[in-house]
Amino acid sequence: MRKTYLSPSILSADFAHLGEDIRCVKEGGATYLHYDVMDGRFVPSISFGMPVLRSVRKITDLVLDVHLMIEEPERYIDEFADCGADIITIHQEACRDLKGTLAGIRERGLKAGVVIKPGTPNQVLADVLDQVDMILLMTVEPGFGGQAYIPSSTEKIRELRSMLDARGLQTDIEVDGGIKKENLQTVLDAGANVIVAGSAVFAGDIRQNVRDFLTIMQR
Ligand code: DX5
Ligand code: ZN
Repeated sequence: MRKTYLSPSILSADFAHLGEDIRCVKEGGATYLHYDVMDGRFVPSISFGMPVLRSVRKITDLVLDVHLMIEEPERYIDEFADCGADIITIHQEACRDLKGTLAGIRERGLKAGVVIKPGTPNQVLADVLDQVDMILLMTVEPGFGGQAYIPSSTEKIRELRSMLDARGLQTDIEVDGGIKKENLQTVLDAGANVIVAGSAVFAGDIRQNVRDFLTIMQR
């Protein structure tokens, strides 16, 4: 059985009591925390950046899973590493020197991830499959929480898992966007093992939502 991880996305948290929301996620049993950085260029919206990450690092030992939705992410690897990121994931579409930047993330002692948008084919990753710890497949257009899962993503997850299997790689596949209790089993069956969930976790009883997700993931 492949090990699975739940990575609640704090984009949907209430920032007036972010620390409390993060505590609930931890108490529910999550092991990762997904941190969405948006620059207003690569995606239309702007979220949060370095100072918030530094504060989050101080109050939690969750694995900080930083998803950079920014142009030329190579400019900011050191800063996000200094602020406490554990995993840094960069968009293939936004990065001029993908291999070099991924290598730079690993040189900092962090896990390196690469991410593609729904319209970008898995094949663009062929050259870097053995140079990443995690591949993130966006299952909505990046930029906003609360969107609906794009159904064709399921086949894309399956295809990527086969590409990895064919090379004997156990690389993590993360999925991000529109994941709910209702479609969780579908993405797990297709081969995803790191699950991002924003609006489905941070609405109502956060602890219970996390427990419900984990129950499905562990059965
Ligand atoms: C969207 C972000 C996601 C977002 C997911 O661009 O990358 O991490 O928070 O939110 P939900 O789970 O609500 O689709
Ligand atoms: Zn994300």
